[in-house]
Amino acid sequence: MRNSCSWSLFLLCLCFVICDSCLHKERRALLHIVGNECNCVAWYNPVDGENNCCQWEWVTCNPSTGHVTALNFDGFRGEFVDNGDLFNASMFLPLQELQSLSLRNLGIRGCIPGAGFEVWSKLHKLEILDLSENQLNDSTISSLDRLLSLQSLFLSKNFITNAQIIKGLSKRKLNVLDLSWNVIVDDIPRAACKMTRLQELHLDGNFFFGKLPPCIRNLTSLRVLDLSYNLLKVRFPTSNFANMSSLLHLSLSHNQLEGMLYLNSFSRYTRLKYLGLSSNSTNFQVQTESP
Ligand SMILES: *[C@@H]1O[C@H](CO)[C@@H](O)[C@H](O)[C@H]1NC(C)=O
Ligand SMILES: *[C@@H]1O[C@H](CO)[C@@H](O)[C@H](O)[C@H]1NC(C)=O
Ligand SMILES: *[C@@H]1O[C@H](CO)[C@@H](O)[C@H](O)[C@H]1NC(C)=O
Ligand SMILES: *[C@@H]1O[C@H](CO)[C@@H](O)[C@H](O)[C@H]1NC(C)=O
Ligand SMILES: *[C@@H]1O[C@H](CO)[C@@H](O)[C@H](O)[C@H]1NC(C)=O
Repeated sequence: MRNSCSWSLFLLCLCFVICDSCLHKERRALLHIVGNECNCVAWYNPVDGENNCCQWEWVTCNPSTGHVTALNFDGFRGEFVDNGDLFNASMFLPLQELQSLSLRNLGIRGCIPGAGFEVWSKLHKLEILDLSENQLNDSTISSLDRLLSLQSLFLSKNFITNAQIIKGLSKRKLNVLDLSWNVIVDDIPRAACKMTRLQELHLDGNFFFGKLPPCIRNLTSLRVLDLSYNLLKVRFPTSNFANMSSLLHLSLSHNQLEGMLYLNSFSRYTRLKYLGLSSNSTNFQVQTESP
């Protein structure tokens, strides 16, 4: 009896500590992040009299622990960028349970020295990171390869110029990598072939040139491979895609495609829904005759 009583007391105390809907430390970090742009009156919840950050439009919490798990600041204008447009990644460190972070389209140009993306290696649960549509360059993003828990990384529409980032990230266990619509002038590095967990690889809209490395066929988990709008040379028939039997979407259009593509060579790709082909080369033909 005594035992069960102290147990209940313990659980009650535990609940007092963790059942709070929005943790004080995390709310303070969020207010610091959004700065003066915070429309806190609208966010004030009159029902429980609490400024409950879990109710804020951009915030998702774990309902049982109250920890912030996802933030979506897509296009938000706040104080992310101060100090002459430089970003302070350290502001997010109190959000220890963060799994998903979208900082898309915020005009982020670079980070404050000592507070770059490498500090997020302390966010051990961060799996999804969207930094698309900013103005990030190669040196600013180079530290992203230190984020060990990362699974999906979106860097579309930035100012990335070389494929070095792929080499760095090839050590990580990424499912999704989006580098589309940057200004990468490079060949596709062999290191890319090590990312065998990749389900989506978006390299479209760059200046990738040369041939695909033959080891690309090691990417057998790919569901989406978009290489369109580059300067790649692909000569058919090719075994580059032979083992990618999970493909749903393959786009090679607006490259230098050559040779003869027998459409029935894709007959094993039972899930394929989209195949994009177009080339300015005069010696590219598609053979659709046989079943
Ligand atoms: C960056 O943010 C951290 C955490 O909020 C803060 O301690 C630090 O002073 C900031 N750095 C600069 C240069 O503003
Ligand atoms: C990358 O951007 C940062 C921040 O704007 C800048 O300080 C740095 O010089 C740039 N690096 C290159 C190689 O352009
Ligand atoms: C591709 O896979 C083959 C066989 O699984 C392996 O021997 C080779 O080293 C891999 N290539 C790369 C670049 O990972
Ligand atoms: C590709 O598939 C063939 C058989 O279809 C197999 O022999 C080969 O080992 C596979 N290669 C890779 C890299 O998975
Ligand atoms: C196709 O495009 C490439 C790259 O822009 C160019 O070098 C080549 O001359 C073009 N070929 C034709 C037939 O227009």
